[in-house]
Amino acid sequence: MRWDAGLYERSFGYVAAYGEALIDLLDPRPDERIIDLGCGTGTLTSEVAARGARVLGLDSSTAMIDQARGQHPELDFEVADAHVFTFREQADAVFSNAALHWMTDPDAVIARVWAALRPGGRFVAEMGASGNCATIIEAVHAAAAELGIAGEVRSPWYFPTPAEQAARLEKGGFEVRWLHCFDRPTPLDQCPDGIADWLRMFGAEMLRPVPADLIDRLLDRVNELTAPALYRDGIWTADYRRLRFIAARL
Ligand SMILES: C[S@@+](CC[C@H](N)C(=O)[O-])C[C@H]1O[C@@H](n2cnc3c(N)ncnc32)[C@H](O)[C@@H]1O
Repeated sequence: MRWDAGLYERSFGYVAAYGEALIDLLDPRPDERIIDLGCGTGTLTSEVAARGARVLGLDSSTAMIDQARGQHPELDFEVADAHVFTFREQADAVFSNAALHWMTDPDAVIARVWAALRPGGRFVAEMGASGNCATIIEAVHAAAAELGIAGEVRSPWYFPTPAEQAARLEKGGFEVRWLHCFDRPTPLDQCPDGIADWLRMFGAEMLRPVPADLIDRLLDRVNELTAPALYRDGIWTADYRRLRFIAARL
């Protein structure tokens, strides 16, 4: 997907802000070698670096990496696809916030993370869990059906159950040390047009098959369908559900 890195930075800073708690789970120590996988504009990469670790930010989006390099010229960033990346050294940890659910082949990503880590190294991540943004996704399907294009629209995300993700990690050579699934309703303070704005940022892949002249109608309808559940007292809220885990490479 093509990312609008400027819009992401201006209006969706909450993604990294919520990810800050994940850095405490990572517990980076001075001089540890850490990879931030799917680092986006590098906000959390720089916070991991501020704790003294040597961090490399990887992301498949050139726009995101350009923005990250512009904002944090002192840090190392590279354009790389998580499904095929390699790392010359052995990392102490791989960290990832809000990125794994965008990756289409989770087993391939887990295999690359395993190969990048030293034995005993840790994989610490947050991602969408099963049911993440279900109200939004269902509304897109319903609105598409009303416009006669139901079969063409599909969710691009991988939102596993806790058991499914734990099984994948175990199969991939990790021991799951800690895993937590939770609801995290997320206010969309910078989205005056509600879920439509959220979809303009994150939904490009899902909306790709929608003809250009139908997009605005579809987004208006999604706002109508989701408002009863997601709009209250002038505030739109996305129905996020998250999965956090710490896994050790065997
Ligand atoms: C919602 S952003 C999160 C960015 C950052 N981790 C943060 O907390 O702000 C998801 C990021 O995952 C990246 N991404 C998606 N698929 C990827 C892949 N196959 N390999 C590497 N990065 C990927 C996207 O380019 C995007 O920057």
